[in-house]
Amino acid sequence: MRRRSADILAIESSCDETSAAVVRDGRTILSLKIASQIDIHVRYGGVVPEIASRMHMEAIDALVDAAVDEAGTTLCDVSAIAVTVGPGLVGALLVGVSHAKAMAWALRKPLVGVHHIEGHIASNYIAHPDLVPPFLCLIVSGGHTLLADVTDYGRYRVLGSTRDDAAGEAFDKGARILGLPYPGGVQIDRLARQGDPAAFDFPRAKLGEDALDFSFSGVKTALMQFVRKQPEGFAQEHIHDLAASYQQAIVDALVDRTAAACRAGGRSTVVLAGGVAANSRLRECLANALPTGTVLRYPPVSLCADNAAMIASAAWYRLMEGETAGLDINASPGLPFAET
Ligand code: KG4
Ligand code: ZN
Repeated sequence: MRRRSADILAIESSCDETSAAVVRDGRTILSLKIASQIDIHVRYGGVVPEIASRMHMEAIDALVDAAVDEAGTTLCDVSAIAVTVGPGLVGALLVGVSHAKAMAWALRKPLVGVHHIEGHIASNYIAHPDLVPPFLCLIVSGGHTLLADVTDYGRYRVLGSTRDDAAGEAFDKGARILGLPYPGGVQIDRLARQGDPAAFDFPRAKLGEDALDFSFSGVKTALMQFVRKQPEGFAQEHIHDLAASYQQAIVDALVDRTAAACRAGGRSTVVLAGGVAANSRLRECLANALPTGTVLRYPPVSLCADNAAMIASAAWYRLMEGETAGLDINASPGLPFAET
């Protein structure tokens, strides 16, 4: 007997994007709405948590309505409500979680709580309808950097992670040192295209011969100390070469560990996820470094950033396993990425 298709309405509000989406069977986006707050936070050089929560509250109602309308469905017809429960900014998460709980209760629909990182991984299920686990996944965002063996839907084995800054954080902090606006990753990526990645030598931390962990605090400090020693105006004058060299140091570390994990684990598919998966140099260098025959997949740039479609996709696989949440779920700002 054919199973009826399931449309999941999801909300994502963990940081500075409010998003609502309706996704069918975990793979097809029926609608995706994103209200970015970057124009406001850019004035402060980073996300201001209090402002983020307030802006989520202002945006969420209309955004959910718009997502449901655009999907050509109604609230009564969606199969479940999904929401990011963590990790993220507590006030920001609370807006989405409260909204989702209220809807699930009022509509008598199942509620699914999703880990933000699991959502990022699932963005690839939307982008690549033929992608199925197992695969090796490098998750690189503003708050996380980890290598995971995805053994099945929602089943992970963490192989390595950052011991300090996340890769996106390193991009953002480096950009700040270079006088570039927030969020810095995309600026560095753009400027680096006209620069020489070998112009300056920044350190690539290696934590033991076989270790698959990362460390990015050293490269950021090296950039800061280097720029400080230079005459005024040096950073602006050499911005392309500095961006390219700094980016290359981060990319080399990511590529080195991912290629090593791929060789060691023998997975034939490698997947990128998270905001930094949008980085053009990372995509290029990783493609060149993977063993011959390995398939490299990543989402389109639009799905690398935070969005609710990826949350709906991850939720669908949880729902298939009967994993629903009670109305007592809460925002969990430090939610660990559970190995299952
Ligand atoms: O996944 P995401 O949207 O939010 C978190 O879950 O953290 O990732 C945001 C991060 C930021 O640090 C941003 O600078 C970085 O992704 N990012 C990039 C690029 N686009 C966004 N980093 C490098 N190159 C890019 N093109
Ligand atoms: Zn994210």
